Amino acid sequence: MSEAALSLAELESRVQTYIDTQANLDLLRFITCGSVDDGKSTLIGRMLYEAQLVFEDQVASLQQDSKRQGTQGGDIDFALLVDGLAAEREQGITIDVAYRFFSTDHRKFIVADTPGHEQYTRNMVTGASTADVAVILVDAVNGLLTQTRRHSFITSLLGIKHVVLAVNKMDLVDYDKAVFDEIVRDYGVFAEQLSFETITPIPLSALKGDNVIDRSAHTSWYQGPTLLGYLETVNIHGHDDEASFRFPVQWVNRPNADFRGFAGTVVAGSVSRGEEVRILPSGEVARVKDIVLYHDNLDAAHADQAVTLTLDREVDASRGDVIVAADAPCEVSDQFDASLVWMDQEEGYIGRSYWLMMGTTRINATISDIKFKYNINTLDQLSARGFELNDIGRITLSFDRPVPFESYQDCKGLGSFVLVDRYTHHTVGAGMINYALRRAKNIHRHSHEVDKAARERLNGHKGKVLWMTGLSGSGKSSVANAVELALHNRGVHTFILDGDNVRHGLNKDLGFTDADRVENIRRTAEVAKLMVDAGLVVITAFISPFRSERDMARALFAEDEFVEIFLDVPLDVAEERDPKGLYKKARRGELPHFTGIDSPYEAPETAELRLPTAELSIEECVAKVLEHV
Ligand code: ADX
Repeated sequence: MSEAALSLAELESRVQTYIDTQANLDLLRFITCGSVDDGKSTLIGRMLYEAQLVFEDQVASLQQDSKRQGTQGGDIDFALLVDGLAAEREQGITIDVAYRFFSTDHRKFIVADTPGHEQYTRNMVTGASTADVAVILVDAVNGLLTQTRRHSFITSLLGIKHVVLAVNKMDLVDYDKAVFDEIVRDYGVFAEQLSFETITPIPLSALKGDNVIDRSAHTSWYQGPTLLGYLETVNIHGHDDEASFRFPVQWVNRPNADFRGFAGTVVAGSVSRGEEVRILPSGEVARVKDIVLYHDNLDAAHADQAVTLTLDREVDASRGDVIVAADAPCEVSDQFDASLVWMDQEEGYIGRSYWLMMGTTRINATISDIKFKYNINTLDQLSARGFELNDIGRITLSFDRPVPFESYQDCKGLGSFVLVDRYTHHTVGAGMINYALRRAKNIHRHSHEVDKAARERLNGHKGKVLWMTGLSGSGKSSVANAVELALHNRGVHTFILDGDNVRHGLNKDLGFTDADRVENIRRTAEVAKLMVDAGLVVITAFISPFRSERDMARALFAEDEFVEIFLDVPLDVAEERDPKGLYKKARRGELPHFTGIDSPYEAPETAELRLPTAELSIEECVAKVLEHV
């Protein structure tokens, strides 16, 4: 009977059967990763195509594209199916995560195809963060590469337990078992240090179709599954309701005075109506009154469900708080040991603070220490002061307030975070919390009888920081000097912290790399803070070239205590002045990392005072500064 002759009822029933089977299939999310040219896109394209999941019109356009681009000599170029973007096609690389959905009679799949280029670790992390299985492609001709190791390591860090070692392009090595065995052996040695549960090596050729869906006649020595066969049957544990209930509050839904619901997604465990829960970090306890999903009232909510909870009494909870099982709460801390993958072109430094996004909350966090970075090929631990693109390492992270968390091992949803640059808003890193570090809790702040207020009364004025920033030669030291003299003559207690002087003592271990400048300003800001507590008006004269650290300094003080003063001169004027002859040296290449020449200066955007010292006399500058004291 032809399709056309099917009655409408039959057709409907067939469609319904299909929908029902599909709805009941479980879902496997996997990621493919490898180096450029390892053939990831070709592999995925081949799977989609052979499983006959490609629509006819797509095939037609594919054939045309293949002819036009001609990378496979008139044959279908499967990579074109997957490398969706024109720009990528022209460059011949994949530049973003491409998610593909397909299904077979056994399972539904979402595959994240991630780029192999070094600079795209970012996308790999994104793709891997939700995957159950990683397919790691290795080119049989090239063997293991640094990228293979890096991707495997990230895969392991992200908690993926099952990997397929897909040894591709077997056709180019005459399906030689010895080549395959050697790669498998090498990988085994490397992966011993990682935390995979299973590694399944499969010899294949994505281009020729060997062992992708059908068993290859060329690899009679191989008894294992084909790739699709493996993916259809691999046993991944679903979400278990055994885990303790965790529910980060996304927003407080309060349409009217009678209703107050906490909306969010269950990231672990489950909750039932009437169950006792605790709100963290406050620790308040309440019972779940209703579990609302659209217009329905549920008896229980499980992991991954987005619901609104109402409680039996008024509690103080807001976005970023976490509702947890009352008898199994998670920990709360503000200092952590974490693993970090750096994804930005710009280096990451000890002492710099970033926005940290975790669960539904945003926190100010500082990398307070880099314990080590990994040598990705050997997994040796190297000491480091900064993170460069694609570096992976262990850090100490300090938050500006305590937050509820879980180790990533125990709960991905509460143990993973991304770091975001406060100015560029780039995601610069992704990380996983390993465990909380106790802050030195036995170091209490002493409160003394004579406090800041008492000292200010005695002095007859408040403490303050006049934070001068600007290029070398912008006049910071001269203006600082004149301001101090004027204040001193008025009976104000002052102190100048000057870059050149402080670098002879407290900071003599620091040079002029970006990392050292960050530390230079951090220490200076802390010293200035002590001096302001001592009741002094502190005048700092540091280039302080980075906005991040000037803001970090500002954050240490009350709003009216910190005055940022931008000594604004064009570079050529500063260079013309060149009081210490340093610009000339820098131009001759004898002084590396010189600000304005080969090291950046980020001009303030919100300074309280701007002094164009090329246009103002010293007296005029002093008068303007004094208005702020
Ligand atoms: S900062 O960038 O870390 O704030 P700081 O103000 O302490 O710099 O020191 C700047 C002074 O160090 C300059 O005025 C100059 O005299 C001297 N110096 C020596 N090398 C450099 C350099 N590479 N870049 C800038 N200043 C330098």
